[in-house]
Amino acid sequence: MKRRRGRGSKHFDLLAPFYDRLMCRSEAVPLAEALNLPSDGVLLDVGGGTGRVSHALAPWVREVVVCDASRQMLERARQGGVAIVQGTAEHLPFGDGAIERVLVVDALHHFRSQEQAVRELVRVLAPKGRLLVSEPDTASASVRLIAFAERLALMDSRFLSPEEIAAIITAQGLTTRIVRHGTTAWIIADRQEG
Ligand SMILES: C[S@@+](CC[C@H](N)C(=O)[O-])C[C@H]1O[C@@H](n2cnc3c(N)ncnc32)[C@H](O)[C@@H]1O
Repeated sequence: MKRRRGRGSKHFDLLAPFYDRLMCRSEAVPLAEALNLPSDGVLLDVGGGTGRVSHALAPWVREVVVCDASRQMLERARQGGVAIVQGTAEHLPFGDGAIERVLVVDALHHFRSQEQAVRELVRVLAPKGRLLVSEPDTASASVRLIAFAERLALMDSRFLSPEEIAAIITAQGLTTRIVRHGTTAWIIADRQEG
C-alpha cells in the first residue's frame, strides 16, 4: 500500500517551541541577493515555519507573509512580527501572479506532493518574479543520513536532488539555475513573461 505522506506539520506543531533554538541562524544578505531584493512587492515564505529565515528579509520587501501548515509554527512567526497564513503548499490561498518573490527553505521535502506544490508556487508567482527553493543537497552523504533519520522518525520526507527539483520547476515554464553552498542547494527560478 502506498504510504500517505504529509504528516510533517504534526511533528512541527510539537517542535515549534524549540525549533528556532535547534536551528542555525540564517544568513540574510546572500539570500536577499539570490532573491534579487530589494523589491516593493510581497515575499511569500512557503513552509516558512517560525519565520526564522524570512523575518530577516523584511527590510528588503514591502511585506513578508509566512504560509505554513502548522498552526504552532505560525504562532511563533506571528510573534516575530510577520504576516501569517495557515495553508498547505499544495493549495496556496493566493491569487494567480499575486506574489513577487516566493521562498521555500528546508520544507520542499516535507510537502505531500512536491509536483503539486511547485505548480502552486509557480501559479502565485508574479510575472518577472523569482522563486528560490533551498534544500539539503542529496549529493552530500550527511544529507542522505539525515534523510534516513527522518524516515526512522516517520516524518515521511522525500528528498529530491537539486537537478530533479530544477526539472520540475523548468517543466512549469521557468528558467532555473542551481547554486550550491556546502550541503545546501539553492534552486533559483525566474518567471519571464510580463
Ligand atoms: C524544517 S521546517 C522549515 C521551516 C522554515 N522554512 C525554516 O527554514 O526555518 C518545515 C516546515 O514545513 C511545514 N510544512 C510541512 N508540510 C507542509 C505543507 N504541505 N504545506 C505547508 N507547509 C508544510 C512544516 O509545518 C514546517 O514548518
